[in-house]
Amino acid sequence: MYAQMIKSEATQDDPEKLAAFQARIDAGEKIEPKDWMPEGYRKTLIRQIGQHAHSEIVGQLPEGNWITRAPTLERKAILLAKVQDEAGHGLYLYCAAETLGVSRDEITEMLLDGRMKYSSIFNYPTLNWADIGAVGWLVDGAAIMNQVPLQRTSFGPYSRAMIRICKEESFHQRQGYDAIRKMAEGTPEQKKMAQDALNRLWYPSLMMFGPSDKDSVHSAQSMKWKIKMNTNDELRQKFVDQTVPQAEYLGLTVPDENLKWNEERGHYDYTDPDWSEFFDVIQGNGPCNVDRLADRNKAWDDGAWVRDGLLAHAKKKAARQHAAE
Ligand code: 3HC
Repeated sequence: MYAQMIKSEATQDDPEKLAAFQARIDAGEKIEPKDWMPEGYRKTLIRQIGQHAHSEIVGQLPEGNWITRAPTLERKAILLAKVQDEAGHGLYLYCAAETLGVSRDEITEMLLDGRMKYSSIFNYPTLNWADIGAVGWLVDGAAIMNQVPLQRTSFGPYSRAMIRICKEESFHQRQGYDAIRKMAEGTPEQKKMAQDALNRLWYPSLMMFGPSDKDSVHSAQSMKWKIKMNTNDELRQKFVDQTVPQAEYLGLTVPDENLKWNEERGHYDYTDPDWSEFFDVIQGNGPCNVDRLADRNKAWDDGAWVRDGLLAHAKKKAARQHAAE
């Protein structure tokens, strides 16, 4: 039922309150959890922050898969730290969502039974070590492009969580670029692996920014409320402009025959991803959707005894305190 609620941005709030709220947003004020807010604003935030939190947690799976197979001790320590950071990001974001009146358990259950989404990118596999470099470079690179502006988002707890997350994401992007550079400058076989990783992950990375603006359902309202600071296409273009010279520096070729610097626009022209593939993936039909959800469900079920134990301890402590009063 909650999933239905958070899909709807229709709001029947008092027009005067709505106008005063919009004036606060327009003036650049932060909205805090106890402030009055339109239902649509609250629901949109729960949907976006929840989806973001789930992405951080599910995003640990494709990379965690390579911790035991990292090529050196140093790469292993870096990857381990990165995957742990992603868990931390998930926690900050679940906490931010909780300030809006939804518990972490509630939104986790919505992820586990498929009512809530997570980023499309994590439904693609990481087939070899070059993919781990490419994920850091491209996926974390796309994530930062989206998340740096979110540090200025209107909801206080979300904006503060993003400040911490962005600091760590920039290290993630750099370590990825360093790992793929090592491959690109390595043996011909290693360079080929780096190129192959770029070929497979380029378009899924472009999809991370969401559908094109004409198909984005939420952008207009979310930007009015400063829940989003840019449109999907604006950020995608910024990502292309930033990443193409990085690929050139590596001696790798972006898999897009139409990619061309457009002097007049001051941007690269590029080919959009295959949007039918994107919608297919977010509807649950990507290469790894079934596995990812099965892994998360298993982790949730396997952790039940920990949650039960912690709750039993908390209940016992509360009962003892109650008896002592
Ligand atoms: N993957 C999955 N679903 C997506 C998506 C994507 N890449 N892009 C859009 N969608 C979904 C939307 O959730 C929406 O579906 P819904 O109505 O059922 O919720 C639908 O497609 C229409 O898209 P809109 O453009 O209207 O949706 P939004 O306004 O929410 O914009 C967004 C999408 C740009 C992803 C926005 O939600 C956003 O900025 N979110 C915060 C950032 C985030 O979630 N990042 C996850 C990236 S991964 C990550 O951070 C992990 C790191 O370790 C790499």
